[in-house]
Amino acid sequence: MTRIVTGAVLTFGATTADYLHEPQGAVVIGDDGRILWRGARRALPEAWRAAPVDDYDDCLILPGFIDAHIHFPQYRMLAAPGKDLLDWLNRFTFPEESRYGDAAYAAAAAEKFLDRLVTNGTTSAMVFSSVHKSCAEALFAAAGTRRMAIMTGKTMMDRDVPQAVRDTPEAGARDSEALYQKWHRRDRLRYVVSPRFAVTSSEAQLRVAGELMQSLPDTLMQTHLSESTGEVARIRALYPNDKDYTDVYDRFGLLSDRSLFAHGVHLSERECARLSETGSIVAHCPTSNMFLGSGLMSMGHLGKPERPVRLALGTDVGGGTSYSMLATLGAAYKVQMLAGYRPTAFELFHLATRGNAERLRLTDEVGSLDDGKWADIVVIDPKATDVLASRQELSQSLEDMLFALAILGDDRAIRATYVAGRKLHERSE
Ligand code: GUN
Ligand code: ZN
Repeated sequence: MTRIVTGAVLTFGATTADYLHEPQGAVVIGDDGRILWRGARRALPEAWRAAPVDDYDDCLILPGFIDAHIHFPQYRMLAAPGKDLLDWLNRFTFPEESRYGDAAYAAAAAEKFLDRLVTNGTTSAMVFSSVHKSCAEALFAAAGTRRMAIMTGKTMMDRDVPQAVRDTPEAGARDSEALYQKWHRRDRLRYVVSPRFAVTSSEAQLRVAGELMQSLPDTLMQTHLSESTGEVARIRALYPNDKDYTDVYDRFGLLSDRSLFAHGVHLSERECARLSETGSIVAHCPTSNMFLGSGLMSMGHLGKPERPVRLALGTDVGGGTSYSMLATLGAAYKVQMLAGYRPTAFELFHLATRGNAERLRLTDEVGSLDDGKWADIVVIDPKATDVLASRQELSQSLEDMLFALAILGDDRAIRATYVAGRKLHERSE
């Protein structure tokens, strides 16, 4: 049945300057879960005037948040106290991920993981699963039931890790292909080629990843790049003949406009230029970088106008410390302040919606509240908490109101979440 959601509609176009804000707005959702219309409530076409309404007063109606980088099998691992990235991986992460070879365990975890995403207003994500086929399988199945646009793949990792989370180049290729055939573009799901990083993949496996990018049309690739100094030193030892970390991936054909690299904290001028030239994307994960002490990724450095690197934004749970994209916006602001750049709230909200949609090649479907897009919607209460409510009394503009939400907001500000037109979450008072 056609439904109407009313509130203060905000949606972005290709740039931050290009936005629509309708303080008394309405979004019309069709039977098929797609947006039929959006605009000022008073201009609602006659045909829909009798349709049932979910009225959210002066709450914000935004496109659902998109998380460009998160790890499903780390769903309960937040706040595991590692000394640094490599220590954290070895001591906590690999043992935890080893559980996901058990299909029943993975299936139960997938429900919890996806519930957490929608509770936080996240409707789409690019997700790392574990090395086990059963893990990606469980996530695809659970996301399919919810009709969420989830993108994932089995992690490829064939060296320097415990046996329980290790594959081989051949098994990695076989499982990736089988999962792609079964799940890619099944309703809203997409397969992503997922070598963990060059520390835990042999050269043979990186070659396989490059071949999969060629042979599986229309897939994206996700991995990690230049997150910590210890990791960069390890890469130098493992690949002494490559120019730098980025050059390792480049040699195997993994740099492209379909490639997402998480972190990019310690990139040289040459690496940024090469990432820019190839259209590669770096996903900034600020809560993770602070928690693991990885360093300050600089959007100013990566975004230099003469060789801009395309940017996305992710929580990186469980290295990240929050599922909330609002909290992640606040963390990005603080990290960038320390790195010498001050993003606007418009820039941050654009990144978490339309920007990430573009980087993940989802703009035909989500990222904005335009006619024909899926009705993936987050309803945000700008006065959700006492602290937010009193701060908003001072807000002088939309930018200011969004800024307060980025700095002070979290799951408590998420009033409701819709996926493909269905309300999957409503916050109880
Ligand atoms: N690098 C390789 N694997 C991981 C991971 O699971 N989390 C983070 N933060 N970095 C990684
Ligand atoms: Zn990660």
